[in-house]
Amino acid sequence: MNKLLITLLVAVGISGVAHAAGDKAAGKEKSAVCAACHAADGNSAIANFPKLAGQNDSYLIKQMQDIKSGSRQVVEMTGLLDNLTDQDLADIAAYFSSKTGTVGHAAKDLVAQGEKIYRAGIADKGVAACTACHAPTGQGNAQAGFPAVGGQHAAYIEKQLKAFRVNARNNDPQGMMRDIAAKLSDAEIKAVSSYIQGLSK
Ligand code: HEC
Ligand code: HEC
Repeated sequence: MNKLLITLLVAVGISGVAHAAGDKAAGKEKSAVCAACHAADGNSAIANFPKLAGQNDSYLIKQMQDIKSGSRQVVEMTGLLDNLTDQDLADIAAYFSSKTGTVGHAAKDLVAQGEKIYRAGIADKGVAACTACHAPTGQGNAQAGFPAVGGQHAAYIEKQLKAFRVNARNNDPQGMMRDIAAKLSDAEIKAVSSYIQGLSK
């Protein structure tokens, strides 16, 4: 391989991972259309619409790109991202990630089971602890692309885990979430989702 080709490949590789820096003021304006479902500050009031406030920048950009390309299907958002550039997506991500996410409550009768799954996993089923990637506080790991989950609507969390379980959502790198969700029962999903809703970032 000649040197020029190698240089080109390296340059493409680098631009493939680096995101344009987002401008949150511009993102606020560009996100006006998103407010109908996600709320102006990203703390959606409706349990099926995920909260975007305080979500990690890199995760938001990846999901918007996946939804735009169709590798994650969100019918409610059909066409909404089609005319947005990478810069627009970076601006919108910068805006929502700068907001503070609100936290809900866990159902009392599910806290103990949910907490155990979240913090220790389920050893005899080979389910890893959620804390390993989503952190003890639920804030995730921005650099690794692991989303913040703390405070998210339980109904939305539950829907995602069930979608991963049947491969209906399959945009997780290396099937990381599909492997985990495949081993969870409905009752375990309900408990850990409720626990996450009350988990503070
Ligand atoms: C008509 C309602 C609606 C509108 C308007 C809308 N969304 Fe969504 N959005 C949804 C729903 C519903 C989901 C979750 C779908 C699912 O259950 O997987 C979602 C998911 C997302 C996610 C993934 C969140 C996560 O935690 O993985 C992002 C990011 C997102 N929307 C960004 C946007 C942006 C940016 C806009 C405006 C350009 C927008 N949405 C407009 C309904 C909407
Ligand atoms: C090995 C790392 C890892 C572990 C362990 C893990 N997750 Fe995840 N999780 C991820 C990644 C990566 C994603 C984002 C996938 C993508 O890019 O679409 C994710 C996404 C999610 C989402 C979707 C968030 C959203 O906003 O749509 C939920 C819900 C979730 N995980 C719950 C859990 C629960 C509950 C556990 C524990 C039972 C768990 N995760 C354990 C890596 C992990």
